[in-house]
Amino acid sequence: MKLLVFLSGEHPTLPRSEVLAAFEALGLSFKIAEQSEQVLVLEGDFPAGAIAQAAKRVAMAHFFGELYFSCKADAGEVLSNARSVDYAFEGSFAVRVHRVRHHAEHLSTEQLEREIGAVIASRGKKVNLSAPANVIAGIITDRFYLARVLERVDRGAYEERRPHMRPYFRPGVLLPRLARAVVNLTRVREGERFADPFCGTGGILIEAGLVGAEVYGFDLEEEFLRGAEVNLRHYGVELYHLAKGDARALWERYPEHFHAIACDPPYGISASTKGLSLERLYQESLSSIYRMLIPRRYACVIGPSNLDIEGYASSVGFSIEEVHFERVHRSLVRKIVVLRK
Ligand SMILES: C[S@@+](CC[C@H](N)C(=O)[O-])C[C@H]1O[C@@H](n2cnc3c(N)ncnc32)[C@H](O)[C@@H]1O
Repeated sequence: MKLLVFLSGEHPTLPRSEVLAAFEALGLSFKIAEQSEQVLVLEGDFPAGAIAQAAKRVAMAHFFGELYFSCKADAGEVLSNARSVDYAFEGSFAVRVHRVRHHAEHLSTEQLEREIGAVIASRGKKVNLSAPANVIAGIITDRFYLARVLERVDRGAYEERRPHMRPYFRPGVLLPRLARAVVNLTRVREGERFADPFCGTGGILIEAGLVGAEVYGFDLEEEFLRGAEVNLRHYGVELYHLAKGDARALWERYPEHFHAIACDPPYGISASTKGLSLERLYQESLSSIYRMLIPRRYACVIGPSNLDIEGYASSVGFSIEEVHFERVHRSLVRKIVVLRK
């Protein structure tokens, strides 16, 4: 089948990478059939339940759907394609059309909803706008896409885990959707060992725990470790290990032990590097992370964009898979670097 993924627009590159990495982590084979701004079409034989699992796993997407067609963003083409689809679903429906940014503003979303709705209704399907059994979604982007929604991502669940909602809160930590994306970029699988060597209050560990990994968190500060424990328990993560440790020396205790590693070391204005230069902290930590990781597996490291994380990582043996940039505020752009051993 052709599976349409409606990606979130919260970042230009992370949503696409997160979805592809999550599919890999779930062991799903696919090829990329099409891509447009905020749309990815994956082709594969997805086993029952796989799409629901993917929707539970990713943060930076809105929904997954069965693609009916894609065409030029032109009203005539959209309707002629809509007329040639065999709408095989059971129960009522509603058509909802979304526009990505300012694409094809000559098209009216309301008019397309009415006209596509009329085509589907003419096949004997019943319209129900308030509680439809099926949502037929149109997306206006570089092209037009029509799909039946199969699974939605519960974006609200991430809102409920925002840092200030946690029992133990410290400012300056990653938001849960970014933390989940970072976990997915490491391709960790259920039951595997995942480490955050700079775990702080446990934001990344919570997301890794919720995808079913056995999580290990390390930090120099015992108070943060106590906070991380309270937070992990609060969100129902049971398989965790927390210990005081210096990220730069952990490889001695855990050589080739972890299937995946992710971290957000200190780097902001309020950064606490314990007197160490950022360069040394990252260099020595990357060397330790490399040795802690099982061969051919992934790590994801966050840091300021002006720090040569890629250079340090490649000098210890990593290959650089991807780099994503994100503006935090006027004076800080961070990067998310995906590494493979
Ligand atoms: C940006 S915070 C991590 C935030 C974390 N992701 C969270 O959700 O709370 C960085 C953490 O690294 C810790 N840290 C600093 N130097 C360290 C080192 N050499 N080894 C381990 N942890 C260290 C700090 O105590 C701090 O908790």
